[in-house]
Amino acid sequence: MRTVIIDCDPGTDDAIALFLALGSPELDVVLVTAVGGNVGLDHTVRNARALVGLSGKDVPVVAGADRPMLGSFVAEPRVHGRNGVGGVVLPEGPPAAPGVAADAIRAVLRAAGPGEITLVGIGPATNLGLALASEPALLDRVAEIVLMTGAWAEGNVTPAAEFNAWNDPEALSIVLSCGRPVTVATLEVTAQAVATTAWIAAQRGQGGACMAAACDILASVPPSARLGGRGSPQHDACAIMWLVAPDMFTHRAVHASVDLTHGPGRGRTVIDRWGKVPGARNASVLETVDAERFFALLGERIAGLP
Ligand code: BDR
Ligand code: CA
Repeated sequence: MRTVIIDCDPGTDDAIALFLALGSPELDVVLVTAVGGNVGLDHTVRNARALVGLSGKDVPVVAGADRPMLGSFVAEPRVHGRNGVGGVVLPEGPPAAPGVAADAIRAVLRAAGPGEITLVGIGPATNLGLALASEPALLDRVAEIVLMTGAWAEGNVTPAAEFNAWNDPEALSIVLSCGRPVTVATLEVTAQAVATTAWIAAQRGQGGACMAAACDILASVPPSARLGGRGSPQHDACAIMWLVAPDMFTHRAVHASVDLTHGPGRGRTVIDRWGKVPGARNASVLETVDAERFFALLGERIAGLP
């Protein structure tokens, strides 16, 4: 069982990812931190609390950054609705734990032994970047870092950039270059994990309140025009699924960096899949996922929650 911290911005697909993590015995989620991203921090914290509360797990939720390290905050209400979960009204969860996310992440790392903690980032990387940059001596406690971020080809928020990478490229750069192994689920693999209306319909009535909330949230998401209207990509659940069932994926060692310029390339992840950049490979990129197995296990794990 891996001990994990999940930093998130729920977020419709973050909600599904959180349920997958909280419902999976392979993972011991010891901390959930929230960042402003898909919607403002007030909503992402409230949603994270509500989702953890629905799961019945006793996991602290701590609020983090409400904006990127540089520049101003931009949300994505078209996909996630005004409240971040497609307008679905979730029951109030337990109160947020005191403190701020970067401190809470460092506290968990400080109390851990070498290589004991896996960090998962499924929102803008601000909280993770702040935590790692402010106490680099704790890096040896990190087993690995798994991010939903970036794309090796085109973006989804600008022609060049994916939303999480574009939202805080400076923070992402800190995380990518921190020296610990990083695995990235980019838009290319998440495009293979598309929740269809048929799959959502088949889940209805399975499980309990978590599955009902998951189905309501998924049903609220407009089908992705970028993906031909097939459904809604489960970006963030790909990062979690990699930790739960890595044999569903193929992956490749790469050099990964992010464009920090302020022109049209800002936030673009530069992922060298073919060894063009001299020097070390600092990351692994997930390339393919077995969608049939992905959705079978996703449904099973959410149905296993209350
Ligand atoms: C990523 O951005 C957000 O909209 C999603 O929650 C996901 O983390 C996809 O680009
Ligand atoms: Ca997210």
